[in-house]
Amino acid sequence: MSATRGRIRLTRGDITELPVDAIVNAANPTLLGGGGVDGAIHRAAGPELLAECRTLGGCLPGQSKLTRGYRLPAAWVIHTVGPIWRGGDEGEDETLASCYRTALTLAAERRLATMAFPAISCGVYGFPVPRACAIAVREIAAFLGGSPHPARVDLVCFDAEVYEEYRKILAAGV
Ligand code: APR
Repeated sequence: MSATRGRIRLTRGDITELPVDAIVNAANPTLLGGGGVDGAIHRAAGPELLAECRTLGGCLPGQSKLTRGYRLPAAWVIHTVGPIWRGGDEGEDETLASCYRTALTLAAERRLATMAFPAISCGVYGFPVPRACAIAVREIAAFLGGSPHPARVDLVCFDAEVYEEYRKILAAGV
């Protein structure tokens, strides 16, 4: 029995509505908000989120930082900064992989049971969706194979292209 079977779930929708222990934000290095899922999370969480983010001193690409979720149904927000796609020769794959690893590590350290990821870097940052989804599933499956926490990871897709890509990858077996 795979240690990860059933622990990675695929869903469509808005990550700000999920009652999981932590949602992951696709942030930028300032951690001071933006558009896309970053903007949606800050709008839903309320101004206290930005106030806490201001105390964090930013975040390097590939790294993750934790805040409370405030008005979100999720108790925590894990802010991670994905790579901007520049053609693939500037370490983008490894930076994206690091986003998943560092976010999962923060959740595991707090023994969180459930967390949800958006498709990091697949919007404004322009990372090719099939390549990004393959990295995400590979890194999440590898992490869960070595850790009981989090018990479950939700891949939350706002758009159909990302959902379909994850569906194909997961159907091929992790
Ligand atoms: N719930 C889940 N996923 C969402 C939501 C949402 N409410 N809104 C957008 N998404 C999806 C997008 O469709 C995309 O697949 O999140 C994925 C990541 O897209 P972006 O939010 O554009 O993030 P990213 O590509 O990592 O770019 C980060 O954008 O918003 C700014 O401040 C952010 O500068 C940073 C950059």
